[in-house]
Amino acid sequence: MMTQIVKNIDWVGYVDWNVRDFHSFDTFRGATYNSYLIRDTKTALIDAVKAPYAGRLLQSITEKTALDKVDYVVCNHAEPDHAGGLGEVLAALPNAVLLCNKKCLEFLAGYFDTSRWKTQVITPDDKIPLGQFSLQFVNTPMVHWPESMFTYIPEEQILFSMDAFGQHLATSERFDDQYDLSYIMQEAKTYYANIVTPYSKQVQRTLESAAALPLKVIAPSHGLIWRKNPGSIVEAYKDWSGGKYLPKVLIVYDSMWNSTEILAQAVLGGAVSESEKIDVQLMHVRKTPATRIAAEMLDAAAVAFGTATLNMQMMPQLSGVLTYLRGLKFSPKSAFAFGSYGWAQSGVNLLEQWIEETGWTKTADSLAVQLRPKPQDIARAKEAGKALARAALERTQH
Ligand code: FEO
Repeated sequence: MMTQIVKNIDWVGYVDWNVRDFHSFDTFRGATYNSYLIRDTKTALIDAVKAPYAGRLLQSITEKTALDKVDYVVCNHAEPDHAGGLGEVLAALPNAVLLCNKKCLEFLAGYFDTSRWKTQVITPDDKIPLGQFSLQFVNTPMVHWPESMFTYIPEEQILFSMDAFGQHLATSERFDDQYDLSYIMQEAKTYYANIVTPYSKQVQRTLESAAALPLKVIAPSHGLIWRKNPGSIVEAYKDWSGGKYLPKVLIVYDSMWNSTEILAQAVLGGAVSESEKIDVQLMHVRKTPATRIAAEMLDAAAVAFGTATLNMQMMPQLSGVLTYLRGLKFSPKSAFAFGSYGWAQSGVNLLEQWIEETGWTKTADSLAVQLRPKPQDIARAKEAGKALARAALERTQH
């Protein structure tokens, strides 16, 4: 496996082929925890890995240099998928000083007994010379934790961007030009939607700071390294953080005895019939991972939510998805609520309430149908689908 970014700067991370659940993020293509080793007059390690794989990281370092040759360990981000292995790693590197910002050190002290660690708090004004290379730092607060930070090597124009620009994607390749770019971008988008979206304003500020840095390579802490297309992922981040809409209608729903299903299909048919320019997707919440729903929601312009009423509530999996979506704070969408009930229509009422409280815009009165939909109900659902498609086109044109 090719690991060299440039001479003496290598990837030494861990490929987690079998992880499928990353704190409820559905990692169906696995993940990587990227660490980087910079060998110079001084030697530095950028980031560690998840705790169970610290031994594998130390083995990878040993294949490049002796453990007592490592002078610095940079911690860009204290989340345990990167910093979890720090305790074991620092214990095995007798001469290493931990470099991180003040907030990061506070967070690490919440996870570890740091009293015996050699530490140096750094700021964006600091420059750590290694010899031929040097390390600079950019604080990126709330992208996506308060202590988040980038590390930059100006001599090679390499940005170690921690989670930003990353993807959950286990591969035997390490670089974007070795893999299908459309897969990488799809996974980068899924990562953005599920991890970064609530902090889009902070992302935009960070992009402004990063614009001052000439970039040849972006080396994130997950997934493939952007050495051919760093500009493409930066442009994509501008679109995603700016809330750019695509002409897309999602129908997100759950059904008990097929009545809400019939309505969902009618909404679909109406939206499809309205315009060939619209991408319409039907997403049953018990058959579609919330991770994928969120990825598609990122740039969708319009959404229909449908539910049967169960015990005076909406269906439980849909309720969970809506809680998740609200936390992600997507840009506002055009929305429609529909569904069925036996004797009380409270499920649809709750959907309507969610739409109003989230600040999205209703495109039509909600549709609540008792028992089986009648022809007039199906006609209303189709009209609602058409209205969603028109609203999606309208939003896309602005
Ligand atoms: Fe990959 Fe926020 O940790």
